[in-house]
Amino acid sequence: MREKKTVFSGAQPTGSLTLGNYIGALQNWKELEKDHNCLYCIVDLHSLTVRQDPKEFHKVSLSFLAQYLASGLNPEKNIIFFQSHVPQHVELSWILGCITYVGELKRMTQFKDKSGQNRDNVNSGLFTYPVLMAADILLYKTDLVPVGEDQKQHLELTRDIATRFNNLYGETFSVPKMYTPKIGARIMSLQEPTKKMSKSDENANATILLMDSEDSIMKKIKRAVTDSENIIAYRDEQPGIKNLITIYSSLTGLSVEEVVSKYEGKGYGVFKTDTAEIVIEFLRPFKKSYEDYMNNLDFIEKVYETGAKRAYELAENTMTLVRKRMGMV
Ligand code: TYM
Repeated sequence: MREKKTVFSGAQPTGSLTLGNYIGALQNWKELEKDHNCLYCIVDLHSLTVRQDPKEFHKVSLSFLAQYLASGLNPEKNIIFFQSHVPQHVELSWILGCITYVGELKRMTQFKDKSGQNRDNVNSGLFTYPVLMAADILLYKTDLVPVGEDQKQHLELTRDIATRFNNLYGETFSVPKMYTPKIGARIMSLQEPTKKMSKSDENANATILLMDSEDSIMKKIKRAVTDSENIIAYRDEQPGIKNLITIYSSLTGLSVEEVVSKYEGKGYGVFKTDTAEIVIEFLRPFKKSYEDYMNNLDFIEKVYETGAKRAYELAENTMTLVRKRMGMV
C-alpha cells in the first residue's frame, strides 16, 4: 500500500482568523485530513516579528487553537501544536539560514511590505522569517503545503532551500508542493478589492473575522466596495463583485457559473444580503463550537501537549539525520 503523504501548514496567532484564512487555507486543511498525515501548527514564533503584548499574545494563541478545532480539524487525526513547543524548528532554521542567501531574502515581497509598514521595528526576524517557515515545512519531510496564494514566494524559496540542501549533503528533505484551492486562494479586502483581505488591516470593515457578530458581518458585506455596472459577473473589471462571488461559491460549493446564473438580472442589494446570510449561517456552528472549546481549556491543553509530543518525535528523527549529514559530532 502507498504511504500516506505528509501535509504541513500553519497560521500566525495575531488578532483572529479571517474568512480569507479559512477559505484560502483551513478549508483545505480539513479536506486533506481525510487521507494524509497532517500537522497543523500555530506558528507563534513567527508572530514575534511584530511586537506582542505578552498577556494578550497568550490569550490569542490559545484562542487560535480553539479556532482551529472549531473549524472542524480533528485533533485525533491531525497533529495540532504550537511551533514554540518543538525547539527543532529553530535549530533547523539556523542551519537552513546558513545556506540561504541574503539576496534571496531581500527579494521577498512580504518582507518589503512588512518592513515598509513597521518602519520603527524592521527587526532581523522579519528578514529571516521565510527561513523559519522553510524549517517548519522541511522538518516533517512535508509533501503538500495547503496555503493561500500570498505564500507562493515563500514556498518557492522553501523548495529551493530543500533542493540546495539535498544537493550539498545528500537526499534528506522532500521538496514540498504548494496546494491552493481552485478558487478562493486570494480573498480580497471588502474595502479595497484589489488588495488581499488581511488580519492586520486597520480598516475593520475590510475584513471578516470568523468571530465577527452576525450584525457586523451583514453590515460589512452590505458596505463592501463594488462598482456601478450593476451586473453580477465574475471578471477582473469588477473585483468587488468577483470577490463576493468567490466567497459565495467557496462556502456553498456552487460553481461560479451557478452563482452567476442564479443572480442574473438581480441587483447588488439582493446579492450582498444573500452572501452575508450565507457567511452568517456558515459561521454560526463555528462560533458555538469555538465558545465550547474556550470553556474547556483543559481539553485545549491536552490537544497541544499531545500534538507537541508527536511533532517532537518526528522532528527529532529528521534532525538526527540532518546533524549526521552535516558532520556534527
Ligand atoms: P498567515 O497567518 O498570514 O495566514 C494563514 C493562512 O491563510 C492564508 N491567507 C489567505 N488565503 C486567501 N485569501 C486571503 N486573503 C488570505 N490571507 C491569508 C495564508 O496564505 C495562509 O495559508 N507565513 C504564514 C504562516 C506559516 C506557514 C508556515 C504556513 C509559517 N510557517 C509553514 C505554511 C507552512 C502566514 O503568515 O500565514
